[in-house]
Amino acid sequence: MAPSERSNRRNGGLVLLDGASARAVGTVWLVGAGPGDPELLTLKALKVLQGADVVVHDGLVSAEILDLAPAAAQRISVAKRKSRHAYPQDEINRMLVAFALQGLKVVRLKGGDPFIFGRGGEELEACRAAGVACVVVPGVTAALAAGAGAGAPLTHRGVAQAVTFVTGHAARDGEPDLDWESLARPNQTVVIYMGVSTAAGIARRLIEAGRSPATPALIVENASRTDERRIVTVLADLAEAAAPVSGPALLIVGEAMALALAGEPWQTTQIEARAVELGGK
Ligand SMILES: C[S@@+](CC[C@H](N)C(=O)[O-])C[C@H]1O[C@@H](n2cnc3c(N)ncnc32)[C@H](O)[C@@H]1O
Repeated sequence: MAPSERSNRRNGGLVLLDGASARAVGTVWLVGAGPGDPELLTLKALKVLQGADVVVHDGLVSAEILDLAPAAAQRISVAKRKSRHAYPQDEINRMLVAFALQGLKVVRLKGGDPFIFGRGGEELEACRAAGVACVVVPGVTAALAAGAGAGAPLTHRGVAQAVTFVTGHAARDGEPDLDWESLARPNQTVVIYMGVSTAAGIARRLIEAGRSPATPALIVENASRTDERRIVTVLADLAEAAAPVSGPALLIVGEAMALALAGEPWQTTQIEARAVELGGK
């Protein structure tokens, strides 16, 4: 294959450019930036970021973390807002591959972990299809930071034998398409990502499927960030409690959330009283 032929071609790890000298194909690093606190970035993520030629990041990555990339690295925000996609996923995939084919070290920096509701799998597949090496660096997903910050374990001996991460994103009919029967079983923790706007439907479906309305629940907004807010409530009051939340937040439902420390001590007392009123322990 002559280097002068049109369109870039991969050949044993080299990109042959029109009339140009052969250049090594770059790698795409799918890196989890963690939940916000820069100290929750892994050492590996930091090392990779410090060697980036280009950083393609989403909106949940804080400026403090982006500042850890070399000053000369190109930074591209592909932030997605609800109902407004700055970049369609296909375009992000193409961009990652195109940068790698130019021989660049591409860091795709994503909030939390790339493989937890982060569409990292699609980006990995796109790289594989294009023959571009893709390395995944895991990150601390928001659920782990939320539980840790509140002092509420996601699993707890004798209280929560399982934890399930689900998306609250409304798939159809305005509510998420989830296995409500299974999520309603007691002694397990259900962590709902992207569930603030669908909190009312989620609570209703869980209660209808048999979960006690008095099940402790925790809402954590901006987990691990300086503006973190925690709201301790019960399942029956989940939607009301979530109403003032505007930042990225998780809804966490389960018996172990009784251990959660609320933002204000008075809330805990109030919640205990409400749980008794609803027939909980
Ligand atoms: C597209 S998902 C990305 C999740 C991310 N990959 C992770 O592992 O944490 C975005 C959702 O994650 C949750 N989230 C992300 N960061 C958060 C944070 N610092 N505090 C609370 N929830 C967060 C929110 O539910 C938000 O709507």
